[in-house]
Amino acid sequence: MKINERRVMTSDAATSFELGSTKATPESAAFLAAVSPESRGAPESGIAELFNYGRGRQGLIPLWVGEGDLAAPSFVAEAAARSLSRGETFYSFQGGVPELREAICRYMSRHYGAPYEATNGPFTADRFSVTTGGIHALQIAVRLTCGQGDEVIVPTPAWPNFQGVVAIAGAVPVEVPMQLEGAGTADAAWTLDIARIEAAITPRTRALIINSPTNPTGWSASVDELRALRDLARHRGLWIIADEIYGRIVYDGARAPSFHDVIEADDRVIFIHTLSKNWAMTGLRLGWIEAPPALGPTIANLIQYSTSGVAVPLQRGAAAALEYGEPFIARQLERFRRSRDILCQGLAATGKVHFARPTAAFYVFAAFAGRPDTRALAFTLVEEANVGVAPGSAFGQGGQTYVRLCFARDPNQVADATQRLVRWVETALT
Ligand SMILES: Cc1ncc(COP(=O)(O)O)c(C=O)c1O
Repeated sequence: MKINERRVMTSDAATSFELGSTKATPESAAFLAAVSPESRGAPESGIAELFNYGRGRQGLIPLWVGEGDLAAPSFVAEAAARSLSRGETFYSFQGGVPELREAICRYMSRHYGAPYEATNGPFTADRFSVTTGGIHALQIAVRLTCGQGDEVIVPTPAWPNFQGVVAIAGAVPVEVPMQLEGAGTADAAWTLDIARIEAAITPRTRALIINSPTNPTGWSASVDELRALRDLARHRGLWIIADEIYGRIVYDGARAPSFHDVIEADDRVIFIHTLSKNWAMTGLRLGWIEAPPALGPTIANLIQYSTSGVAVPLQRGAAAALEYGEPFIARQLERFRRSRDILCQGLAATGKVHFARPTAAFYVFAAFAGRPDTRALAFTLVEEANVGVAPGSAFGQGGQTYVRLCFARDPNQVADATQRLVRWVETALT
């Protein structure tokens, strides 16, 4: 695909709009031809396209990006500010300051039950390295497990960054679409067919990326499904890259089932974690990767050659979030639940919007009857309902006919957005 083909939109609402400031000229084409094919070919995020188009519109309610409207708790900012005032402005440990790694150990022991200890036993602080958000943890996990031409299986619909990161590493993302069973009924649910994953494995497959709970569908794997995936990976000698960043954002129980419930210390599983969602720290860019301790020095090297570590004041803020942030998570969950119920009830009552009610994460992935071109639909909803949604085409195979709505916002605002959408559905979808 040529660059200007990717950049010019086709919907009526956007015929004259071009994303970003770069126009494809002979000069820019020459520069692009001179850079690596992996970077040149990196897919453009369909979410960013909408976001760039509609942000700044008066009164628009943004449900497109995966973040909430609360700032990080003040004690996080205070811990970071104290660290800055103390002059913690130097290079530090590549894998994170020991205090944060130990705080991660304690947090994981509290919530995931593994016998994490700072220094003893099979699960020690050596398993954890601090990263610049979940995306950096993902980049490291992909670098560790695959190279040029290798294949990585990604069940879809999926967070688009999985495919993007794999492709930039020169590897090939292999999408395995999930199914929506019972579409249009109150019991609709996404399902993962593990036999289809197995069928997608080739001699070049190196890893499975399993995101549970899932962005964008809210699907969560059961313990049995996790066990089956673990067995498949063991049997075929594959890595599992387990993205469980939404594991605490569940509407039943304390957390979602986790690979931690089914693995042994020697299983080849790498976990992606982030502070972005649980503690509303998206802009602070803090996460961690969990991997077998033998990989610690290799991960430290990869951090050295990418970011050289996370700013120490932010790590102090992260340690405070892990130690004192439970009431904040509870408050967020309460808001998410109310917002989810408002949005789901409103959309379902129209009879023209179909989705699986999410039991985890903070997204509704919905199909609007008779509007399968969801890129066009998303532009139309900006123009006619003043609501920002993410087009399903961004989420890979099986997602094209849906839009993603993030309800991690003030329930009153979500109620307002729901009313606007319902009004639009009632007038536009006859
Ligand atoms: C499934 C999933 N994994 C990882 C991330 C990465 O989060 P961040 O890089 O903000 O920490 C996101 C963000 O939306 C996500 O949805």
